[in-house]
Amino acid sequence: MPKKTLIVGACGQIGTELTLALRSRCGSESVIASDIREGQQELMRSGPFVQLDATDKAAIREVLESNEISDVYLMAAMLSATAEKNPATAWDLNMGSLLNILELARSGKFNKLFWPSSIAVFGPSTPRTNTPQSTVMEPTTVYGISKLAGEGWCAYYHRKFGVDVRSIRYPGLISWKAQPGGGTTDYAVEIYQEALSSGTYQCFVKEDTRLPMMYMEDAISGTLQLMDAPSAGITVRSSYNLGALSFTPAQMAESIRSHMPDFRISYAPDYRQEIAETWPESIDDSKAREDWGWHPRFGLEDITREMLSRLRTKS
Ligand code: SER
Repeated sequence: MPKKTLIVGACGQIGTELTLALRSRCGSESVIASDIREGQQELMRSGPFVQLDATDKAAIREVLESNEISDVYLMAAMLSATAEKNPATAWDLNMGSLLNILELARSGKFNKLFWPSSIAVFGPSTPRTNTPQSTVMEPTTVYGISKLAGEGWCAYYHRKFGVDVRSIRYPGLISWKAQPGGGTTDYAVEIYQEALSSGTYQCFVKEDTRLPMMYMEDAISGTLQLMDAPSAGITVRSSYNLGALSFTPAQMAESIRSHMPDFRISYAPDYRQEIAETWPESIDDSKAREDWGWHPRFGLEDITREMLSRLRTKS
């Protein structure tokens, strides 16, 4: 029986590209995409899709049993900005879905789980530059609180029940295939979209706000690398720090201007500025490099070139 994979939350920014990458690697039929709503065309046409609420344990159990799933990627979550507006719903979705899936893993319904964490687990009392793997963690956002609690649950289910769960603290992710939704780092995608559609962008964080970022292609390779690694070499069962590069909106604008000299940016910081200020500026990811060979490829110039050319051909 070939190994099958289930992606819960397959239509989001990461889920879309993860599903497509896994399908091209393992064959379309062996990767089941699921989400509460349908996703974009390329994804929907690429293989099987099941409509599924990530908090519906019985429905997930049914999909696991009838398809003999071995790996699960739980990508459904409410991100930082939206979660601030709906704290209780964010907690229910982010924690409810994780606890259900950990229980299903514990009872042997599948073998290996991937669950995404975030730089949002850190807070204002965390050292902001080169933030260590293990450090003070006092997040001040609902999203960060839920991700930190989730990391604790992952480590607990591994320690107590031997669940093979693996996780990454993603930085802001920059991609062109699927829209990000409700995150604080969404400006790093919007800036390219607006540069192409109107030549101007009004950024919702200040020009010198420096945050860790990563191109989606790097994030997907890192995720697959971690999932491929032998279990014995994975020494972190809460979640791995993962860095690539850090930059400010002003540096992004500069990089865009080298392709589009007339591009203009203005700044109107809103509540997301406060969130951004509590997050690290840069990340120490030496554990991921040591344990499973993490190595990012895309710098800011590569990202700008890729984003502008991909978005141009897409529209
Ligand atoms: N990109 C996410 C957010 O802004 C961080 O994990 O919420």
